[in-house]
Amino acid sequence: MKIIAWKRDRLEELVELWNKELAVDFPMRKELFIQNSFNDVNVSYEGSYIAVDDQDHVIGFVVAKRWQETIDVKMDPKRGWIQVLLIDSTHRGKGLGTKLLKRAEAQLKGNGVEEMQLGGDPFHYFSGIPDQYKNAQKLAEKHGYTKRVDTYDLINHLDKKYDLPVDNSVVFSILKKEEEVDLILFLERCFPGRWVYETMKYFEMNGDGREFVVVKKKGQIIGFCRINDSHSPFIAQNVYWSPLFEQEVGGIGPLGIDANEQKQGYGLAIVQAAIAYLQERNTETIIIDWTILVDFYKKLDFNPWKIYGVYLKDLK
Ligand SMILES: CC(C)(COP(=O)(O)OP(=O)(O)OC[C@H]1O[C@@H](n2cnc3c(N)ncnc32)[C@H](O)[C@@H]1OP(=O)(O)O)[C@@H](O)C(=O)NCCC(=O)NCCS
Repeated sequence: MKIIAWKRDRLEELVELWNKELAVDFPMRKELFIQNSFNDVNVSYEGSYIAVDDQDHVIGFVVAKRWQETIDVKMDPKRGWIQVLLIDSTHRGKGLGTKLLKRAEAQLKGNGVEEMQLGGDPFHYFSGIPDQYKNAQKLAEKHGYTKRVDTYDLINHLDKKYDLPVDNSVVFSILKKEEEVDLILFLERCFPGRWVYETMKYFEMNGDGREFVVVKKKGQIIGFCRINDSHSPFIAQNVYWSPLFEQEVGGIGPLGIDANEQKQGYGLAIVQAAIAYLQERNTETIIIDWTILVDFYKKLDFNPWKIYGVYLKDLK
């Protein structure tokens, strides 16, 4: 067995191993793996590793990330992430997972990382460790990680038609390209951090606005909701696993209403608008990822689909 550097020329084998172990729940596409595990600038190439056996076959890998963007958004520069740690099931129980995890942590620590998170990285696959992977959760706990919260992916199979909500105090619309700056300014004011970053990335990757529903009051944006489908400019987090379905899958989220405008029904209404727009685009199933608001989305017929444990560890 040998541990070698993170290299794109191993793509085929990495995706093959992923699908051998995880495709039943999380089918991987090469395009998605390149997007999230090679092209994301936050990938730590020096902290990510591939394990190969004596015949040079890939038998495991770990992808580590730390914040490396130069754009100015409020993200924690001391946070590090393990995007995924995966060992071939025929090579488990021999300490290989521990070895890869420790190497990745040591490398990130050497680069100034003070707090580790499992999943939840920029261009993540998982918001935490999937609940059904109990052994992975146990391994994390053994290595000093503690679970903070459970997060959910929710699903709605759209058994009925949803209409655009009617509320005379506000207007719902799809964002126009020329409103890009208005949206970024709204997000910087109301939701600084990750959602600003993701929106900037969206426009950088040629987004034209069709993936945002906005709600305006007196012409000003007071809320937003991201919607995704197979035509979005990159594979968005809530449609990652759409190969599990035969029908067109859409995604909703993130979303938010200006704190000064909450509790007036606009939050639920923008979700309803998002569903209506996605239905117009022939979506038959909608997924909402990475949320704790199960009761809120239940009001619009979303039910839990996948559960993840969010694990963190202090590296100081
Ligand atoms: C979540 C959020 C969008 C809700 O917006 P809002 O405009 O306050 O929500 P509404 O007024 O439409 O609430 C509609 C219903 O949902 C309920 N609700 C609102 N927030 C809720 C929450 N956090 N948990 C459970 N129920 C909630 C309300 O009580 C209301 O119930 P009712 O119809 O029985 O009275 C808003 O609180 C927000 O922007 N939060 C910060 C960003 C965020 O967390 N986004 C979601 C990420 S997944």
